[in-house]
Amino acid sequence: MTHTFCPGYVRAPYQGLVEDYPGTETYPTADFRTEWGPIFHRGRLDGTARILLIGQDPATHEDVARRILVGEAGQRIQGFLGKLGITTSYVFINTFLYSVYGQAGGSAHAHDAHIATYRNAWLDALAADNQLEAVVTLGTLADTAYHAWRATPGAATATWRYATVLHPTYPDSASASGTITRAAAFARLCTSWNHALDLLTAAPGGLTSDLARPLVHYGTTITPAEHGAIPEGDLPPGLPDWMRGTKSWAVRGTAQPPATTAAQKRATLTVTIP
Ligand code: URA
Repeated sequence: MTHTFCPGYVRAPYQGLVEDYPGTETYPTADFRTEWGPIFHRGRLDGTARILLIGQDPATHEDVARRILVGEAGQRIQGFLGKLGITTSYVFINTFLYSVYGQAGGSAHAHDAHIATYRNAWLDALAADNQLEAVVTLGTLADTAYHAWRATPGAATATWRYATVLHPTYPDSASASGTITRAAAFARLCTSWNHALDLLTAAPGGLTSDLARPLVHYGTTITPAEHGAIPEGDLPPGLPDWMRGTKSWAVRGTAQPPATTAAQKRATLTVTIP
């Protein structure tokens, strides 16, 4: 049986970008989980992307799979791409190369010049290498990052449509803070994503799809069928299928015995085959 896989960073300028990336001098360890290494992207690096999506920061599943947006958040947004008929012509990068640590970690670094310089180098590369028709940002930090880049020469020739949406994990984080129920937060997310679907597909000149299909909006939640599986071709070679499946398989810390200190929890990922 043959397998498809992500060949990685074999071409310029991506090869140079992963040879020389910022470390703890730019991403302080107090605010980022730099010990798990940078995680750069997911999707096409061969010039065929028509839509670029900017996420926030990698989490547990991404730390292991070494590609971004592969866990629950990734599957929610993969389903969004599916509604657009986009099955292959996409590329994702995150606002931050490393996972944010602590509540304020991300916002405290939203305007860091050195973080922006490297991120803008990726955005410049992706804009120059692809015929982008759309850019979508997931959450406010990604929106801020996009606008900082949009004011630079690398984005000067922008002809793409731009949409910003609530982050895929908004229902989880907002309901955890106690200000909104999970159901109401999902309804808000769906409204936000439906607006983006309309904006990206509106005639004339809507996003070219890989697979023509009628646009079906979200209802008030994201159903299991509206999650998208992560394609095998998006991950490094040899990763088992369950790493792309819909069941969660990685958590921070240890289950038994439980990690007792913040440092122990930070240093430990527990992977359980679902
Ligand atoms: N959320 C993101 O925005 N990016 C990831 O890589 C994972 C979760």
